[in-house]
Amino acid sequence: MVDYHHWQLDGSAPELYEKYLVPAITVKWAEDLVGRAQPCAGEDVLDLACGTGIVARLASQRMGQGHVTGLDLNKGMLAVARTFSGDGAPIDWVEGSALDLPFPAGKFDLVLCQLGLQFFPDQGRALSEMNRVLSLSGRVALSVFNSIERTPGANAFVLALDRVLGPNSSRIKRGEHAFNEPGELRDLLIGAGLSKAEVRTVVQKVTFPSVLDYVRFQFCATPLAALLGDLTEDDRRETIKTIALEIAGFCHPEMLEGGRFSFQQEGYVGTAYASG
Ligand SMILES: C[S@@+](CC[C@H](N)C(=O)[O-])C[C@H]1O[C@@H](n2cnc3c(N)ncnc32)[C@H](O)[C@@H]1O
Repeated sequence: MVDYHHWQLDGSAPELYEKYLVPAITVKWAEDLVGRAQPCAGEDVLDLACGTGIVARLASQRMGQGHVTGLDLNKGMLAVARTFSGDGAPIDWVEGSALDLPFPAGKFDLVLCQLGLQFFPDQGRALSEMNRVLSLSGRVALSVFNSIERTPGANAFVLALDRVLGPNSSRIKRGEHAFNEPGELRDLLIGAGLSKAEVRTVVQKVTFPSVLDYVRFQFCATPLAALLGDLTEDDRRETIKTIALEIAGFCHPEMLEGGRFSFQQEGYVGTAYASG
């Protein structure tokens, strides 16, 4: 259980990501994704854009036997992933790009990719790579957030960011929510040669101990840190407080009940099969 009331914000961004964002958000999406994909004992599974490895770990536990590979571009995320030892299927961690997977064709029974596709500079190419490394009967399961208005907490945050830091400051955060229609993801899956593509809308409820904690977390454990990079520590703290106060003005009162910050996050989960 995370002690949210003693946020220890000293640490690298990947360490803070694992400590705060994974328990608050991504473990929920990972349970859903792994539950849908049902990795089985003996399978060879790839967790693409694995970050600190939550999806790989859940898949490994569920499988017991077989093999899991976690791949990410970011060395720091992989360094945190490597600190976990599991009792499930063994996991290897590989540094590499989703656009040029360092694996032979047909290697994997299952490719998982949680909340990663929206960051890839060429999504079609990444999906073609996923298709290439799948075995003949292999399958892919991936998730992306959908439009930011469907995730009211993030929407309030970007509105506050633009008001406090200037128009367009929210560009990076908005980029996490690049998919607007299920058909966009379905077309990409089909365009990459995958078959039987299905896209479902999935909603998770997330809760942070307070709005202030949510904002601090965004600036400590995600690439948004760059936005405040030039400020002194005092100015940084003040700016974070100002943004948190602004957020309240963009929220439905229900989201702030009990002093916490709770909201629904909406995304698309896509599944498809190798072209065979
Ligand atoms: C929001 S994190 C999601 C991490 C993890 N899947 C999770 O759910 O906790 C997105 C991850 O995508 C990775 N990433 C971004 N572009 C990538 C690329 N071209 N190839 C591989 N990984 C990439 C980032 O380094 C980051 O770890």
